[in-house]
Amino acid sequence: MDTTEGSNPTEKDAVADIKPEESDNPLIQSVLQDLVDLDKDYMELELDNENYKKKLDEVKVLQKKCLSGIAHQRYRIKKINEALKAIPNPSTEDKKHMTEAQNRMTKRKNTFRDFEDHLPHKNGIYLNIILGQVNISLLNKEDKYLYKQDYERFKLTLSYIQLGLSMILVFANYIVNFTSLRWADSVLHFLLVWYYCTLTIREQILIVNGSRIKGWWLLHHFVSTACSAITLIWPDGYSYQSFRTQYGWFILYIAFVQVLQYYYQRGCLYRLKCLGQRHDMDITVEGFMSWMFKGLAFLLPFLSFAYFFQLYNAIKLYHLYQDPRCTEWQVPVLSIIHLVLFLGNMTTTLKVLKQKFTEDMRNKKKFYKNKYRFNNKQKVL
Ligand code: COA
Repeated sequence: MDTTEGSNPTEKDAVADIKPEESDNPLIQSVLQDLVDLDKDYMELELDNENYKKKLDEVKVLQKKCLSGIAHQRYRIKKINEALKAIPNPSTEDKKHMTEAQNRMTKRKNTFRDFEDHLPHKNGIYLNIILGQVNISLLNKEDKYLYKQDYERFKLTLSYIQLGLSMILVFANYIVNFTSLRWADSVLHFLLVWYYCTLTIREQILIVNGSRIKGWWLLHHFVSTACSAITLIWPDGYSYQSFRTQYGWFILYIAFVQVLQYYYQRGCLYRLKCLGQRHDMDITVEGFMSWMFKGLAFLLPFLSFAYFFQLYNAIKLYHLYQDPRCTEWQVPVLSIIHLVLFLGNMTTTLKVLKQKFTEDMRNKKKFYKNKYRFNNKQKVL
């Protein structure tokens, strides 16, 4: 890359040619003198800019070098592992050396993830289709932290709006007959389509930047987008009116649970940031774990109720589908979708809990301490 690109020698010379003393008018003299001073600053700025572009080029070269270095290390580790496995009848002494070598390789593999936190990542098919080849890699943990915080805040704001809108629709229905206002429901359903769609994009960006969101939650937001879109185009009629109030309560309740989830996630995020900043004290990690388990214990009953609500929705829709007055295809499809959401949410949440209770504590402590550690030094345990 030509790093001098953009500098304009003709303009530089023209400015350098200005001589304030040649004018008799003191006002002009002062303006020209200002211009000369500004020109000096500009020269400095131009140098800084060239320096910056040079450094960017150097960074790009280093990024490529690190990425290919990691790929090379991974490949060699794989080959060494294969060679170790192929050793026939190892003696006790050999086995000791083999275990040592394997431990060393596992340790090294774990550090690659930390290296990759500061390297650019590929977008993946979904982001490539939506955003094109734009680079969305966040190259330091502080930016990742801020993006995650912003994602959580976005969810909270939208959850409050959903809560407010669904409250109006549900409670107003008991005061005035709102059933004729199908368009008012559509506003909420459209908002939900947009919300879940946006979540899928934001979550993909988080994943590209190292977030460990479980695949189901991503899929859940795709399925929820479809669920809201199908509800949006569900024509007004007997079946829609039979399900409308229940679904209104459901949206209201889910929005409420999302607000609770926000406080749990915010608490985790804030504590992880503190862990990265404090001195090496095991008690702090245990404090974090204890807070996390308390948070989970608090959330769990609300989540379980939400999941059984989804199952109830599926059953109710199935019964509606059996009714001869029901003619819309949306009813059986939505029944299946609610059932899928119930099954997916239930199994994933149980899996997450099992994983949290059985994780290797030593690895986990190191992971938590380094997750949002903003300076580049890692905490060694
Ligand atoms: N949506 C988006 N991201 C999620 C998520 C969700 N439902 N659940 C977890 N994550 C993220 C975490 O923030 C974390 O991200 P990070 O790696 O960037 O820090 C990552 O996934 C790993 O989280 P994990 O340790 O597995 O779980 P957790 O302790 O953060 O949360 C639960 C556990 C059960 C509280 C959480 O998964 C949850 O709220 N699940 C219920 C969601 C749901 O059922 N929604 C529908 C009905 S409201």
